[in-house]
Amino acid sequence: MSNDETPVRNQFLPPFQPCLGEQEYEEVLDTLRSGWITMGPKTSQFEDAFREHVGASHAIAVSSCTAGLHLALVAGGIGPGDEVITTPLTFCSTANVIVHQGAVPVLADVRSDTYNIDPEEMEKQITPRTKAVIPVHLAGHPCEMDEILSIAQDHGLLVIEDAAHAMGAEYKGRKIGTVSDVAVFSFYATKNLTTGEGGMICTEDDDLAEQLRILRLHGISSDAWKRYSDRGSWYYEVQLPGYKYNMTDIQASLGLHQLAKQESFQELREEYARIYTEAFADLPEIVTPHVKDHVRHAWHLYIIRLDLDRLTIDRGQFIQALRGENIGTSVHFIPLHLHPFYQRQYGFQKGDYPVSERVYEGIVSLPLYPKMTREDVDDVVEAVRRVVSRSRR
Ligand SMILES: Cc1ncc(COP(=O)(O)O)c(C=O)c1O
Repeated sequence: MSNDETPVRNQFLPPFQPCLGEQEYEEVLDTLRSGWITMGPKTSQFEDAFREHVGASHAIAVSSCTAGLHLALVAGGIGPGDEVITTPLTFCSTANVIVHQGAVPVLADVRSDTYNIDPEEMEKQITPRTKAVIPVHLAGHPCEMDEILSIAQDHGLLVIEDAAHAMGAEYKGRKIGTVSDVAVFSFYATKNLTTGEGGMICTEDDDLAEQLRILRLHGISSDAWKRYSDRGSWYYEVQLPGYKYNMTDIQASLGLHQLAKQESFQELREEYARIYTEAFADLPEIVTPHVKDHVRHAWHLYIIRLDLDRLTIDRGQFIQALRGENIGTSVHFIPLHLHPFYQRQYGFQKGDYPVSERVYEGIVSLPLYPKMTREDVDDVVEAVRRVVSRSRR
């Protein structure tokens, strides 16, 4: 054990870091030298590889998960006056895209074990105006999809999974990306698979897929890059007022190699998560993540929850104390209904979603990524144990 006066680490351990290697660097250079750097052959190759990896019928690459969620709402015909149900415990973009469509975000509280949307609460929020639901697989733990899909089917609702955290996750033996109408992944810089910025929409629906492909590039009838190839034609038609939401071949160059490493990355995440859970098992002050038997957790995040009644410090002070040990952490998420815009615009108030609020007050995301070494993981364990023992009530 190190002396209590000196931090556990000399150097700061960031809460997230991408894990990129020579193959990614070489592929990007190859793309830069190829003469075609926006959406083109490598994006198609990445889509094919992703579709095969997940086992989905269609994979459509986009500029971000936010863009993909937005397109799914557009293609699903969600518009002004419609209501879309999601969870308070998510990143703002899940709900912002509902607002962009002129629809109303409706929130349903979470379950206190997985912190994912509670299907029973979701059903209570359904009105004749409800058109879609966006379950979010928080931290990479799949939501209760059977319950959600059954409720959605009874009420004729579109299901759009926010799978930003769920690369590699499985629900009852099925990979996320094959379970509902649409699932959208994020390849943001902190995610399990990164392209810097980027996203992928998976769907089984051929018509929806066609619409999404057209919508992601201005609403024109064929991919722009094909117009500039030797077999291309100058002619194109605008079918819809689409968006500029395409991926680029530079991003896809990263994605191709990140995808090939996905399983090994995930195994390391699983191993580190197991080490954390075992190391904190004897600390009643720390609630470790609950994992249902029927899922494979993607372990995008390792969220601990502090039992604040057993500690003399609050969550903010806990984070500061870990920072003092040179361990970076984060919080996922500030509930949507506590943000000023959502309160002002939709009348949400503190107290509306008590489970989410209670969870929020105690949660801290510890560093968990394949670039970490075993020593880094041990440092986090030691730092957490040290802070808990210093602030035990
Ligand atoms: C739950 C959730 N949904 C959506 C997003 C948006 O992803 P992107 O940055 O790829 O648009 C994020 C990003 O962090 C997220 O955490």
